[in-house]
Amino acid sequence: MSEPQEKRILPSVVLETERLRLRAFLEDDIDDVLATCSDPDLQRWLPLPAPDTPYTRKDAEEWCREAAPGFRTRGEGQQWAVTEAGSGRMVASIGLVRINWAAMNGEIGYWTSPWARNRGYMTEATVAVSRWSLDQGFRRIEIKAATENLLSRRIPERTGYTFEGVERSAMPNHGGRRDDLAVYSLLPSDPRP
Ligand SMILES: CC(C)(COP(=O)(O)OP(=O)(O)OC[C@H]1O[C@@H](n2cnc3c(N)ncnc32)[C@H](O)[C@@H]1OP(=O)(O)O)[C@@H](O)C(=O)NCCC(=O)NCCS
Repeated sequence: MSEPQEKRILPSVVLETERLRLRAFLEDDIDDVLATCSDPDLQRWLPLPAPDTPYTRKDAEEWCREAAPGFRTRGEGQQWAVTEAGSGRMVASIGLVRINWAAMNGEIGYWTSPWARNRGYMTEATVAVSRWSLDQGFRRIEIKAATENLLSRRIPERTGYTFEGVERSAMPNHGGRRDDLAVYSLLPSDPRP
């Protein structure tokens, strides 16, 4: 069996789409990250920072200053703040994470701020990050969402990912709940999103 491949530091990139600019998180995003990650609709599906632990300003500060930039510098992927090209305001977060460098597999994770949902922003950001990831040589990109999180499942379904099945009881959530996860994937041989 071959040795696991070394971690790679992905290039620090800004991705631009028709309406969005995906850039690194900044100090200025702390208030918007706090407001978004405290949102009950987000907490229902993403137990940040951990199950049964309230999200605080300190969590938002750590995310913008250390945790998000650290994904790239530790060779664990890349996180982007999604901003509106016009206003410059942060409207979402998207990352390429859980990378298996030996296999060149990665997973896209995301959330959109309550004030920016249902405008097609996460669809647009997911297309951009998916294309970029394939261009970096990734051989398999996954998106996972709780089976009952239909809004999240619509993102891979709308952007050319293939539904593969369900990981049972895979995601610890608040109150001892564990969610089943629907697994979607995109391969270089699939039609480009
Ligand atoms: C799931 C989530 C990320 C979706 O983000 P979003 O930015 O609202 O998603 P989009 O706007 O791209 O898509 C939502 C709807 O907007 C519609 N839409 C509106 N304008 C659009 C446009 N110009 N282009 C494309 N779609 C548009 C889409 O058709 C879609 O509707 P549909 O599902 O009925 O087809 C967001 O609801 C969220 O953050 N939820 C809480 C956290 C969460 O669940 N994260 C994921 C964990 S796996």
